[in-house]
Order: sequence, then structure tokens, then C-alpha cells
Amino acid sequence: MERKYKNLTSPLVIGRTTFRNRMCSAPMGGTDITNDGCIGDKSKAFYELRAKGGAAVVTVSECMVHPATDGSHAYHLDESILNSLAQATYCADAIKRHGAIPSLELSHSGMFAGTYMTDKNKQKSMHQWGPCDTTRNDGVRVKALTKEMIDEIVEAYGHVAALAQRAGFEMVMIHGGHGWLINQFLSPMFNHREDEYGGSLENRCRLAVEVLKKVKENVGPFFPIEFRMSGDEFVEEGYHLEEAIEIAKRIEPYCDIIHVSAGTYQRTFGITHPSMFEEHGRNVYLASEIKKHVSVPVSTIGGLNDPDMLEDIIASGKADLVYMGRALLADPYLPRKVMENRSEDIVRCLRCFTCMAERAATSTRRCTVNPVIGRELEGDEIIKAPVSKRVLVAGGGPGGLYAAYTAAKRGHEVTLYEKESETGGILKSEQAIPFKKEMYELSKTYKKMAEDAGVRIVYNTPVTKELCDSVKPDALIIATGSNPIIPPLEGIDKCVVVNDYYLNKDKVGDDVVVLGGGLAGCECAVHLGREGKKVHLVEMRNALAPDANVRHRPLLLKEIDKYAEVHTSYKGLRITDEGVICLDPENKEVLVPGRSVICALGQRSASYNDLLDGAPFVRVIGDANKVSTITNAVYQGYHAALDI
Ligand SMILES: Cc1cc2nc3c(=O)[nH]c(=O)nc-3n(C[C@H](O)[C@H](O)[C@H](O)COP(=O)(O)O)c2cc1C
Repeated sequence: MERKYKNLTSPLVIGRTTFRNRMCSAPMGGTDITNDGCIGDKSKAFYELRAKGGAAVVTVSECMVHPATDGSHAYHLDESILNSLAQATYCADAIKRHGAIPSLELSHSGMFAGTYMTDKNKQKSMHQWGPCDTTRNDGVRVKALTKEMIDEIVEAYGHVAALAQRAGFEMVMIHGGHGWLINQFLSPMFNHREDEYGGSLENRCRLAVEVLKKVKENVGPFFPIEFRMSGDEFVEEGYHLEEAIEIAKRIEPYCDIIHVSAGTYQRTFGITHPSMFEEHGRNVYLASEIKKHVSVPVSTIGGLNDPDMLEDIIASGKADLVYMGRALLADPYLPRKVMENRSEDIVRCLRCFTCMAERAATSTRRCTVNPVIGRELEGDEIIKAPVSKRVLVAGGGPGGLYAAYTAAKRGHEVTLYEKESETGGILKSEQAIPFKKEMYELSKTYKKMAEDAGVRIVYNTPVTKELCDSVKPDALIIATGSNPIIPPLEGIDKCVVVNDYYLNKDKVGDDVVVLGGGLAGCECAVHLGREGKKVHLVEMRNALAPDANVRHRPLLLKEIDKYAEVHTSYKGLRITDEGVICLDPENKEVLVPGRSVICALGQRSASYNDLLDGAPFVRVIGDANKVSTITNAVYQGYHAALDI
């Protein structure tokens, strides 16, 4: 067969190791870690799915090498811990049996160890180890590692790498980026030592070089070592690309692949993990520049999810390998779909940060667009139902479409009724906001998946009791979504409702008041500001987007700072031609000026009560059930269909 993406799908040989293609799975922590620090079965299944999906390399992450001085990344490889090696072996095995290379990321968090500890009081009463004596912004003291401790840590890297090899891993990634220990030594921002590990670039690189030499000594010449580094720290006091090139040149003799990421977890989170406000592939230039100065293969990463872009990166020689994190949560089968010329079937990552926020909130993993993530052990394949039923899905938003797709995959005869002339539900409104375009595209992809699975879609047809009586479905999934809340304020008819902004863009002038500072209002305000409009954002509560997840929200607020004038604790009273008359926090009536007004005051579940007897099996999902997230709608849709 002729592969569409010739370069991306071509193998790469490094020493005696063959990478089956150029698409690799980035280190992402599995969340199932046993109390004694072993990789749990759920994590194993998480990594296995990445291998099944066709990635060339699957990087198992967060193996800390020296627990005596670390403590963030909870699991460890230690032959004295019962099951430690066995669990690592099962994990490497689970990756290998699908033809991928299992790689283990070895890390040490240095001064940021314990960052994730939930007991902040306990955290403050202890100190961490880093390059220098200092106090972190959160008040935790940091002590400088002694030469003896550094030697011990270097030994530990070598020891754990050898254990990884024994467990069946075929490669290691040494984490030298993102603000963790090796990065702390490389960086003039963190490293103010005056001994042989500080000062000159040669000295700052010493720890990295010692670690790499020790690892090589322990694993031999035919076991690829990948060095992960930040190609720029993106803060003034840190190092920048020119110095990163020099670092790469010094590192090159001791590793087999240089992996160029960017920034630090602590200071530039939204660049290290490019947020929806950043360009896709915004860090590729770092790898591409570094590649000009080294001869080992170079890998790149950061907001990559488009096969055309990935192909271009490899074809044009910007990098030799591409890594993806979130894109392979959204669709672990992305590499396989690329290999099979089925790129139009790829479910794209929304960069909504549900994955990382869920870890922070509940210590589990979740993905908005892929209900299997974090629950791979429960099975990732949709099994045919013993009896085919007639299924009616009411509503073609993301939850309804995913339910219809899943039910059809199970062999049911599925008809989806959509009251409008297009599916997508609330996601339709995202098409006018460029940084959310993947949300709109998601509805198209889900629709294609549903139709390919055999779902019949009927448009312009709301589901009624009469329709159910005539179709007589065995199962009815009510996914009728929600409607915007439009309060009876004087002049409200002058507003453009945020959900309809895509239809009424031309009605929005150059000075706008966005009424409502929830997620939709905030994101719309950012978009309008980016378009060069003067934007005032009015919110009745004292905080913006309080429901946004903990990873997305700070990045959103930063964008708001750039693009909108914010009025929190302001209550909208009436809308005039000059703007919105509000009650300010002192209960005074004031005008917030803007000749156009966008109404973004939230959603209310659509009513469905007359449908509850529409079939023997009825399930209400998504916003119809309770106004919430796309994540919940898709998850509920999937499980409703599995329950039929
Ligand atoms: C859920 C999640 C967990 C991550 N865990 C790790 C980790 O343990 N170690 C690491 O080096 N990077 C980790 N990262 C960062 C990724 O490896 C990657 O550098 C980053 O997500 C940017 O790539 P992407 O835009 O393709 O997601 C994680 C990222 C995500 C989304």
C-alpha cells in the first residue's frame, strides 16, 4: 500500500533499535501507584493502550531514582521492594507485545520535590534538596545537595537504569527539563553554586553529563538513552535557545536522542504543555534549531496533533521523532490511523487540561473526548451486544453522538434525531472562536464516527412523545442538552447570545460588553479582545470562571488580563444603546460602556419529562441531566450505550 504520510510512518534505526515509525508517546504519569511505590495494574493498562494504538515508543514516566532526596514522583524501581521489578516487567511486557519500544523516564524533582503533597502543613515543615540553599515561593526551604549526595544520586540513576533494562525496558529517558533536578543544575535561574557544579556552562552541565555517563556504563552501548531538555526556559533569569544549543552540544556525546521540550512546570506551564491559547507546535523551532548543531537524532513535542504538521516536521528535517502527550489521550490510535491512511478518523485533543486537572483533583486520569482514559482496565474495546435493539437517541450534541456511535458499534440499530439542521449541539458555537476550533471539529469527528458505525441521523426533528410512540424504540437516550439562560432584563433583546455568536458575528461592533464571566463568557471575551475589540467583562460573582479546571483557569485569567477590562461583583440591570447599566459593589448604578452586548449567563437543562416513558430503557445524559462539561456528557453517553 502507499502510505499517505511517508516520512512520519517510516522506521528509524538507532544502534540496534528500530522505531517502527516516528510517532512516540510522551511521558505521562500513570495514576495507579501502589502504596509501596510500584506501577499498578491500571497504569500498566494505560501505557499498554498507547502501544496498541501504534506509537513507536511508549514512555512510562515518573520513576524517581533517589527517594531519599526526592518525593514528588511517587513510584520507584527498587529490587528490595516486593513486586517492584515484577510490576515494571509486566508493564514493559504489555508495551512490547504490541510492537512498541518501552522506555522508562527517570527523574528527580530536586527542589520541587513534594510539590504535589496535599498536606501543605506537612510540606512546609520539611525541606527539599536542590542545587542551592533557598526558600521556595510556597515557603518550603531548600538545602543544597552536597557532593556526596550528588554522587549518590548519579549512582542511583545508573542503578535504576540497569533495573529498567532488567525489567525489559528497551530505552530510558533522562528527564533534564521542565524545572526538575537536572534542569535546576543546568539553569542559571536555579543554580548559584560556586563549586564544580555551578557557574560556567561546563559546570552546570556536569550533573547531566555524569548521570548520562553512569547510565550508559550501566546499560551498555545498545540501549538508547534519550535526554529530555527544555530548549528555552522562557523566563528572563533562565537560559534561552542559544545556551540550550550549547547544552545540547555538551550532552550529545553521552546520549542517543536529544528530546527538546520547553519551559518549566512551575513558571511556564502553558508553554511546556501548550495551552489552547498557543499555536500548535509552537516549540518545534527549538528542536529544529538544536538539530542544526548536533548529529544525534532529535525529537520534538508540544501541542502536536495534526498529521500534516507532523509529516512536515519529519519531511523538512526539523526533527527525527515527534512525541505527543495529550493527543494520544484523546486518541491513542492516532499513530495507527496515520499508518492506515485514516487521519480523518482521528479524535483531536481539545487542550482543555481535563487530563491534568483531574490528576490534581482526584488522583485519577480522565480525558474529555475519550471516556476510556484512566479506565483502560475496564476494557477499551466496544463488544457487540448479544441482542440487537432499536435505539433512539434524542439530540446530536457530543454526548448524544458518542452514545449513538457506541450503541451502533455494539450492533444496535440506532437512529439519532436532531432538532436542528446540523449536529454538534452547543459545540457549534465554538466554530467562531479560533482557539476552540477543535471543539467544533470534535462534533464533526463524532458525527463521522457515528455514521461510519451505521447510525442514521434525522435532522430538523425534535423527539416527542408521539415520535417515540410511533418508532417504539427498545432504548431511548435523552441527550437534549441545555438552553441559554436569558434573564428578563430591560433591553436584553439587543444582546447577542454567546451560543449564537457564530451566527451573529457581524452584529458585534468594536466595543463590547460581555455579560457573564463564566467559562463561555471569559473565552468569548478573550477572542473578541484578540480581534482588537475593546472588551468589558461583567460578572456578578467575585471571581471569573470559578468552575474552570485548575490547569486551564490560571491560563485563561492571564489571557483575560491581556484582553478585557474586568468588572466582578457587578450586577447587570438593563441594557442600553451605550452599554450595560450595572449595580457596582457599592450598590451604585454605573454604565459599563459598549455598543454591543454578549449575553453569556449560563445554561439550563432542556425539559424532557414527556419522554421518560418513551422506551423500556431510558437514560438521560449530559446537560439534559445536569448542566456540566463535555467530559461528563461524553462519558455518560458512552456508558448509557454500554448499558443497553
Ligand atoms: C496528563 C499528563 C501527564 C504528564 N506527566 C509527565 C511526566 O510524568 N513526566 C514528564 O516528563 N512529562 C509529563 N507530562 C508532559 C508531557 O510529557 C509533554 O511534555 C506535554 O504534555 C506537552 O506535550 P503535549 O502537548 O503533546 O501534551 C505530562 C503531560 C500530561 C498531559
